[in-house]
Amino acid sequence: MINKDEHFKRVVSHAKEYGYIFGSSEIYDGLSAVYDYAQNGVELKNNIRTYWWKSMVQMHQNIVGLDAAILMHPTTWKASGHVDAFNDPLIDNKDSQKRYRADVLIEDFAEKLHQKAQKEIEKARTRFGESFDEAQFVVTNERVIKYQTQQKEILERMARSLEKEDLADVKALIEELEIADPDTGSKNWTDVRQFNLMFGTKLGASAENATDLYLRPETAQGIFVNFLNVQKSGRMKIPFGIAQTGKAFRNEIVARQFIFRMREFEQMEMQFFVRPGEELKWYEHWKEKRLNWHLSLGLGKENYRFHDHEKLAHYANAATDIEFDFPFGFKELEGIHSRTDFDLKAHEKFSGKKLQFFDPEINENYVPYVVETSLGLDRMFLAVFSKALKEEALEDGSTRIVLQLPSILAPTKAAILPLVKKDGLPEIAQRIIDTLKWDFNVTYDEKDAIGRRYRRQDAVGTPFCITVDHDTKVDHTVTIRYRDSMKQERVPIDKLYDIIHQEVTIKNWLT
Ligand code: GAP
Repeated sequence: MINKDEHFKRVVSHAKEYGYIFGSSEIYDGLSAVYDYAQNGVELKNNIRTYWWKSMVQMHQNIVGLDAAILMHPTTWKASGHVDAFNDPLIDNKDSQKRYRADVLIEDFAEKLHQKAQKEIEKARTRFGESFDEAQFVVTNERVIKYQTQQKEILERMARSLEKEDLADVKALIEELEIADPDTGSKNWTDVRQFNLMFGTKLGASAENATDLYLRPETAQGIFVNFLNVQKSGRMKIPFGIAQTGKAFRNEIVARQFIFRMREFEQMEMQFFVRPGEELKWYEHWKEKRLNWHLSLGLGKENYRFHDHEKLAHYANAATDIEFDFPFGFKELEGIHSRTDFDLKAHEKFSGKKLQFFDPEINENYVPYVVETSLGLDRMFLAVFSKALKEEALEDGSTRIVLQLPSILAPTKAAILPLVKKDGLPEIAQRIIDTLKWDFNVTYDEKDAIGRRYRRQDAVGTPFCITVDHDTKVDHTVTIRYRDSMKQERVPIDKLYDIIHQEVTIKNWLT
């Protein structure tokens, strides 16, 4: 068993070695927190996006799509509050000159307390065996109560201080908890100050006449400003949703942890417009739906948890994160926010245009309330990829590296392998590719011994290997090998389509 840090290093190197992710402009030593998706990465990313899009748009009669521009009128960001309030509290370590997010330092400290409590629970579970009553233990064990209370108090105090913009207290909290620079151990901190995360750019031919623009920091605002266009042209009735995927940009202070926190990333967002007063019912609805979507991929229920926000964003009256157990611990994967009517009302105010809906059922005009689901595509990629990467001990004492991606997301569904490069076997393999390629992404490989080719496809995450051998010429059957079980079966060539289809059709994953 390797530890989490070691696993994370493997994830990063495997992603590079097998053509999933490269650092951006690497030949110039790269650009911090910006990444390129390589030949397999782009397929996995597209498949995740399609899985999300189909489940949100195609599966819901009352949700439609949109692809708004990245560049928007600058007033958009004044109205949304991003110009004034899209800040992170930043702190520098005077000795190491390293910059951190003050809230992340405190959250990491609180997470350690949570882990200590979990350790006590696990120890007790081992000690008491079957008779262990976890619910009873967590309310009676002194150590668990102490850790949990401390964690709660720390997070609550931080939330209160950030809410009041009391940055001096955030620094005081870091000092009281004796939080040290994670890299150097130094506790010599500067004051905490706010830092706006939006990237600026300019529109116009000359410097004097240029207009200041921002690269959008979220895709959501493109949906809000188009709310009425979509509602009217699509004759949509409340409740209805608008979904969008696309790039967003944030000048993140702490951009480590590979593709978890990037400066250029992709979001998959859906804004669901509802009658005022019904938003919390829909918030609960989308919490459940979105968790079920994640669970449908079979990465393990134990890897997800909800984390309700202590400090609500300026636009929300309820908010939660779906957290995932990444190689560096539980962190936010997706946000679900009840955004009230904040955004539409703000755009009404700043644009002078009405953004309202006439509801024939209650005979009233109103500004709809909004429930948002917001998932980072790159984070989803990291979640899937890091859980899928496994080192397995085999019965013969050897090990294999296997990327057990959910087959619906795997970049390549099947590799077609002629046993040898002669005797007409490559031609048969090519004919199989020609029948499958219309519906599935398939690949051909004739280099190296068959065992090595299987291992290479295991490491890339291909669910099926199909081997063409001399018997194929006689009886039109091939060997199909399953990535996860390594089981091999002899099947007729004309059954291949059905076998693969059965495994990768969305219907069998979402229902
Ligand atoms: N419209 C709401 C919104 O943008 P958010 O919690 O700031 O909310 C939503 O972002 C999701 O976008 C996050 O849950 C995360 O998955 C993803 N995300 C945010 N910042 C990111 C970054 N710097 N790099 C990668 N993904 C990011």
